[in-house]
Amino acid sequence: MGYRILETDDIPAYLRERGHWDDPADPRVREVSDGNMNRVFLATSADGTRSLAVKQALPWVRVAGPSWPMNPDRADAEARAYEQVAKVAPDKIPAVHGYDPENYALVMEDMSDLEVLRTLLNEGAPYGPHTSARIGEFVAQFSFATSDFGMASADRKALIAASVSPELCKITEDVVLSEPYIEHEHNHWHEGLDDLAARFRADTGLRTEVADLRHTFMTSAQALLHGDLHTGSIMVGEREGAPVVRVFDPEFSFVGPIGYDLGLYWANALVSQERARALGTLSDHDDQLRLSWEAFETEFRRLWPTRVDPFFDDAYLDRFLRRVWTESLGYAGTEIIRRIIGFAHLTDLTTLPDPVPASRRALLLGRELIVRRAQLTTPEHVRALL
Ligand SMILES: Nc1ncnc2c1ncn2[C@@H]1O[C@H](COP(=O)(O)OP(=O)(O)OP(=O)(O)O)[C@@H](O)[C@H]1O
Ligand SMILES: [Mg+2]
Repeated sequence: MGYRILETDDIPAYLRERGHWDDPADPRVREVSDGNMNRVFLATSADGTRSLAVKQALPWVRVAGPSWPMNPDRADAEARAYEQVAKVAPDKIPAVHGYDPENYALVMEDMSDLEVLRTLLNEGAPYGPHTSARIGEFVAQFSFATSDFGMASADRKALIAASVSPELCKITEDVVLSEPYIEHEHNHWHEGLDDLAARFRADTGLRTEVADLRHTFMTSAQALLHGDLHTGSIMVGEREGAPVVRVFDPEFSFVGPIGYDLGLYWANALVSQERARALGTLSDHDDQLRLSWEAFETEFRRLWPTRVDPFFDDAYLDRFLRRVWTESLGYAGTEIIRRIIGFAHLTDLTTLPDPVPASRRALLLGRELIVRRAQLTTPEHVRALL
């Protein structure tokens, strides 16, 4: 039938066609898209006992419309990432009921009983003891399984080939890893940051370090990544009295450096800390980098004895983890900076009564994380910077 763009009224028939809905009564459907890129619908039975989420990629950026075309095969990347995570960490993603490559549409668990982590943090909630630990474990489980430690060499080569994602990677290479450091029409910032934006553009040492991180992003095929692991890609809540943490929206997934996933999470945690500092609502913010790193490292070391290629010895594991740590700090720095003087900003800062003091602190922290990443060898060192 070909690719058709689904509207709210099309969803009941679509779900029946695909075998996801056999109740006699149609579900009630509402659109909940709040991102920039795609459409998301929730379909619920009249008695509320059954519900599903449908996410469809359009051939353009949703908020821009057809004037900004974008290959819908980003939905393939999302489905591929979920398929890999489902094998090793099914409790940390929504259950996926089916992927329809013809329509670039994913049918998955409705998670509307959970809340987006960024929303909660912006409202002043603490992380609690589970969230960052689950995220660290998520990165370890997903990356180990899709690295040369968790996969046979030939399977890995096939995964790398299948996961090449030129359009989405180019967005990151430009928007995150170069534009903030040059004059570019995408960039914008609060006028109270004029001096820092100019200083960063003139900082040749900073630029060379970002070039290094950018080249690593382009060439280091360590593992399949989420690719956009910010606090808006995480839902948290409670089910039957137990804490639930779910990672979603892996459409930027590709095979790249593991530090990019950890670094994005850290950047968002550090920015939310600056928000809380500005509002006087600091709680457990200071612990999140350490908690996620320790959980990542512990889980990666736990999986290490299962590696498929024992030529990689224990001393190499130590070296590899140190490299991931250092790169994570660098990517955290680039993510902080791009979210303040680049294209897309964070509500954590933009909704502050005066975003300037917190933004200045965060920008300077981001620069330190990039240029001094080799000297900052523990979470304590990062804490000392704050
Ligand atoms: N499975 C789900 N259950 C409930 N709500 C969901 C689900 N998936 C997405 N949503 C809602 O839809 C919103 C957009 O989803 P998502 O981030 O996946 O879309 P996107 O278009 O890729 O966004 P972005 O532009 O941020 O990349 C989420 O913030 C969430 O509120
Ligand atoms: Mg998205």
